[in-house]
Amino acid sequence: MKHLLKMLDLSTQEITETLDLADQLKYELKHNIPHPRLAGKTLGLIFEKASTRTRVSFEVGMYQLGGLPIFLSAHDMQIGRGEPVQDTARVLSRYLNGIMIRTFKQSEVEALAKNGTIPIINGLTDFSHPCQILADLMTIREKRGALDGLKMCFIGDGNNMMNSLIVGGLKMKMEVAVACPADYRPAAEVLDFAQAYPAFSMTTDPLEAAVGADVVITDVWASMGQEEEAAKRRKAFAGYQINDKVMAAAKPDAMVLHCLPAHRGEEITAEVFEKHSEEIFEEAENRLHAQKAVLVKLLG
Ligand code: CP
Ligand code: NVA
Repeated sequence: MKHLLKMLDLSTQEITETLDLADQLKYELKHNIPHPRLAGKTLGLIFEKASTRTRVSFEVGMYQLGGLPIFLSAHDMQIGRGEPVQDTARVLSRYLNGIMIRTFKQSEVEALAKNGTIPIINGLTDFSHPCQILADLMTIREKRGALDGLKMCFIGDGNNMMNSLIVGGLKMKMEVAVACPADYRPAAEVLDFAQAYPAFSMTTDPLEAAVGADVVITDVWASMGQEEEAAKRRKAFAGYQINDKVMAAAKPDAMVLHCLPAHRGEEITAEVFEKHSEEIFEEAENRLHAQKAVLVKLLG
């Protein structure tokens, strides 16, 4: 593992090793065992979009590992005034030991990795959100003991979360069923990958996707950058809510995950959200542990 750019790049073994290390780091933190595995290392955090969880968990994680996080708002950087990403990569490679970037285009993240000489971590693009998927897989494995053979159901937009969960779930030998409107399917690259797996299915019917699910997952209907489409999307996704009916189709003890922020009354009802809030906030906590594992693997 040289970078974390998208789930498609990771092998099953790399995902498993990362989750194992995340469990270990969580244990060390909970038992007050110092773990300064990145003493003296620096991580730049470039944000071209808003963030609560990603920013705070990377900054705290880097501090707990003995390193230094440096928050870089794209609005205050020359990148925001048009300095090419290729030049930014070559300059920052001379100061930092790693970069996390949250931006719009996946190609920008790939360009940083190609032109720089240090590990690049994707902190979310329009195409993928690998840090979140590692935390989600960690949470499911923690609650259920294993991933193999469990059914994951994602209901909603074919966005960065759906793209990445399909790939992560299938690589970890889960059954993956997604439900989305015909005009909001996951990326072609992801569907190409998924078609080879008999354990993958896609439908426009949320109840069909939810049947027998062990984990039901959703995300916002309008992602960052799609604010102007919000009204149109509210109409298109009106039948794609995680509610009691969907949960009745899933296994009686099914988990619910949401990467947050959540819009109660849109993609999930307030009742289902609150009933599963312990799982959802454990998932948010696991961002910290999963990302620390990624940092140790890439920068250690
Ligand atoms: N889930 C997630 O990535 O949250 P933030 O946008 O707050 O970082
Ligand atoms: N799909 C959402 C995820 C936020 C963590 C977005 O891209 O805005």
